[in-house]
Amino acid sequence: LLLEHFEKLQPFCPVCNTGEPAPLRIASRQTEAGGHLIHGVLHCSRPDCMHEFPVIDGVPVVLAGARDYVRENLLAMVMRADLSSDIESLLGDCAGASSVFEATRQQQSAYGYGHYGYAKDAGCNKASVYTILEVCLELAGGITGPVLEIGCGAGGVAQRLAATVQQPVVAMDLNFSLLQIATSAARNNRVTFPRRRIGLVYDRMEIELPPQQRNASFWLGDAVAAPWAEGMFQTIVALNVLDSTPSPLQLLQSAGRLLAPGGKLLLSCPFDWSPRATPVDQWLGGHSQRGPHGGDSAAILHETLGNWQAQQPADALQIIAARDDVPWRMYVHERSHVEYRTHCLALRRPGG
Ligand SMILES: C[S@@+](CC[C@H](N)C(=O)[O-])C[C@H]1O[C@@H](n2cnc3c(N)ncnc32)[C@H](O)[C@@H]1O
Ligand SMILES: [Zn+2]
Repeated sequence: LLLEHFEKLQPFCPVCNTGEPAPLRIASRQTEAGGHLIHGVLHCSRPDCMHEFPVIDGVPVVLAGARDYVRENLLAMVMRADLSSDIESLLGDCAGASSVFEATRQQQSAYGYGHYGYAKDAGCNKASVYTILEVCLELAGGITGPVLEIGCGAGGVAQRLAATVQQPVVAMDLNFSLLQIATSAARNNRVTFPRRRIGLVYDRMEIELPPQQRNASFWLGDAVAAPWAEGMFQTIVALNVLDSTPSPLQLLQSAGRLLAPGGKLLLSCPFDWSPRATPVDQWLGGHSQRGPHGGDSAAILHETLGNWQAQQPADALQIIAARDDVPWRMYVHERSHVEYRTHCLALRRPGG
């Protein structure tokens, strides 16, 4: 938790969401280093609420359901990064292919390598998430801060955005083990994560990074109930999130509220729908191929945005520009990559 951002941006309690927002306070500072709170507790400033939110490994858990989150994600939150590859491999073999341990390692491998592999392996630059970011920035025709990144994963894009705008970049995600990588990069200019070789075989990667931006901070929180004031951000970026979230339309509406009038929203999506992330009735397309758009997600997203504009011209997000078929290559293991074709969009909130 970057303390400068905590003071400047004044997150509020996500539990008392009626009436005046109640700012969070730092209740206890257990470990601090270089302007970051590493371990500590935040709490609500309202005496009749006083809900507590842990800060662990520099990651503040600012969620209304913080207790449920901790209960359901305890393994990821206490998983260690200091074990040798041999011991980690033995634990992985015991836990097996369908364990939470394995799912966590696979995510750290894909996003750790996708976001920071560039510092070790030039091949990573091809069709990476940074390619998508470049396309979105071009479509938007320039951006300013403060910036909110929704679904930042391992945090590399937030670092690029921070370098682009030289203003605060607030990055949120719901995945603790990816945010651990993000905060480690931001604080220590190095990351360590398990990279999958094949099957259950992983190598622990340690990557030294060029100096990272000091104006990006990382928060574990739900963008649909974000602890930030409405209209606070000039730019919101959500790359490859719409098909990884329970309600894509709610996410878009929340992003619209958090944007300042005249602010811009940069989106990309491979529309790789899965019922594990999004219930089928919330998918934008990907079903009902007998309908007018044949189940085409990009067409349905554009139509939905058009309908919102027709209903609320003063408030709804307007399309600035869009590009289809932007490639995004994800590492799976040494013998496998997945290449998506993403749809990229830049939108603008009216006014300003
Ligand atoms: C497919 S990953 C993309 C990560 C990164 N943007 C990239 O492109 O490399 C989607 C991420 O969105 C996050 N996410 C989904 N719904 C969210 C929400 N409501 N609030 C914050 N993060 C969310 C997930 O935890 C996941 O890490
Ligand atoms: Zn509260």
